[in-house]
Amino acid sequence: MSVPSVKLNDGNTIPGIALGLWKNKNEAECVASVQAALAAGYRHFDSAQVYGNEQYLAEGLKAAGAKREDVFITTKIAVQHFARVAGSFDKSLERLDMDYVDLLLLHFPVSLLRGHAWKALEDIHKTGKAKSIGVSNYTVRHLEELLKTCHVKPAVNQVELHVYLQQPELLEFCRQHDIVVEAYSPLAHAHGMDNEVLESIANKYGKSSAQVMIRWCIEQGTVPLPKSTNPDRIKQNIDVFDFKLDADDMEKLKSLNTNMRTCWDPTNVP
Ligand code: A2P
Repeated sequence: MSVPSVKLNDGNTIPGIALGLWKNKNEAECVASVQAALAAGYRHFDSAQVYGNEQYLAEGLKAAGAKREDVFITTKIAVQHFARVAGSFDKSLERLDMDYVDLLLLHFPVSLLRGHAWKALEDIHKTGKAKSIGVSNYTVRHLEELLKTCHVKPAVNQVELHVYLQQPELLEFCRQHDIVVEAYSPLAHAHGMDNEVLESIANKYGKSSAQVMIRWCIEQGTVPLPKSTNPDRIKQNIDVFDFKLDADDMEKLKSLNTNMRTCWDPTNVP
């Protein structure tokens, strides 16, 4: 499976799909899913301090004999570590058994502490221990604030994004500012897959509703991070680069937007 790369504003590139590791907390299951993903062609893994699986990701990579330079690894600073980002990141590196990550994100726009935490990420970036830095769950307002003061622009904003939560204003803002959007929960947490619009488009291409949902994220120029622990579904979720949704499909899918959130809502975070 050949996965296209996406260019980041700092000159680095990121593989256009990742295995999301949220809730993948069981050691054996996590190790097995990382191995299944590597076998299916994934080279990009999205972890976080709060997922509790950085060490299992490392274990899976080792068990599969993956070379460090062949994989793209993301982790995120947990909200409870915003006052001591550097120390907590060093512990992440220990758990990952790596001397750098490809992408380091602030997990949430924590009030009062997010400016301080971003400076800490910029310092880590200077050391080369994080090749790219970015944010997660930032709204346009949080990004505007950050862009006024940052020395290093965020390369990525990772947010919940799927056909039921399309966030067109946020996507447009990120496009204008050359910030790549990563789509977490691109399958809306497995809600609404039996929708007839999704099913009819899926039938047209001989794909599943899940594949149409993931492809919709790609058509939006985002990097989807579908999560699965099931080897067949892991394989299915990366098999989305041999078809395209046309304008008519995209118009139909637009009608599914209900602003449904399955996860954190940062909208009102001051
Ligand atoms: P499982 O791990 O058993 O495959 P999201 O990435 O939007 O958070 O969705 C994750 C949820 O969707 C998980 O419950 C996962 O279950 C399920 N899932 C992942 N891939 C597929 C798929 N191709 N078809 C149906 N459900 C899927």
